[in-house]
Amino acid sequence: MSDGSIQTKRGLQLDRVVLLGRTFEEYRRYFLLEPDDLIGKRVLDVAGGVSSFCAEANNLGINVTSFDPIYSLSPKKIMERSEPDLEAVYRAIGSVPTYRWGYYKNPDYMRKLRKRASTMFFSDYEVHPEHYIAGQLPTLPFADHEFDVTLVSYFLFRYQNRVGYKFHRESILEIMRVTRDEARLYPTVTFEAQPSEYIPMLLADPALSNVLHSPK
Ligand SMILES: C[S@@+](CC[C@H](N)C(=O)[O-])C[C@H]1O[C@@H](n2cnc3c(N)ncnc32)[C@H](O)[C@@H]1O
Repeated sequence: MSDGSIQTKRGLQLDRVVLLGRTFEEYRRYFLLEPDDLIGKRVLDVAGGVSSFCAEANNLGINVTSFDPIYSLSPKKIMERSEPDLEAVYRAIGSVPTYRWGYYKNPDYMRKLRKRASTMFFSDYEVHPEHYIAGQLPTLPFADHEFDVTLVSYFLFRYQNRVGYKFHRESILEIMRVTRDEARLYPTVTFEAQPSEYIPMLLADPALSNVLHSPK
């Protein structure tokens, strides 16, 4: 709702990209994954953060590599950032009107899932550091077509105002360079629950129009 010239934000207000982690089951739902079809495939999880997708998927026989700037840090340093981020989001999220609570039930259950994810992440990060590659979009340190499938959960579009259109365009071109079959990006709406205005711009871009498909 607008009050004259005053625009009221309805979504979560964050001053940085937060360090939260989602579970394999959440990724499966977001990306409509068929886990059996991915067994033996090489999957890249860009901006993987403290998600347990990589750990859980590798346990199922899916060959996942996660990529994120935080993987240059020790587990202790990552924890020093991820725990306060989770508490800050937990405290704020209950009063934000743009969230539908169906699957997540309530903020306590959301926090439980995030804790479950980060606990699995930290244990895998210690035991299998080779699953976790440090770096930053818009550059990926991988060979052309190195991965069958690439996923990006809760980074592109979500934080669009922090990084801008050029960053999105370059990142998506880079993701397509390292991906053989398909990349899936979720969500494509902003914190205000509005479709990103970058989607039509990317679809109209001659360098991308033949590879991008609009969300249904
Ligand atoms: C909200 S978390 C999402 C984590 C995970 N994908 C999930 O959905 O659970 C956003 C992640 O983006 C990462 N990030 C920030 N800047 C990045 C960049 N330039 N390239 C890749 N990842 C970045 C952060 O470190 C953080 O882990």
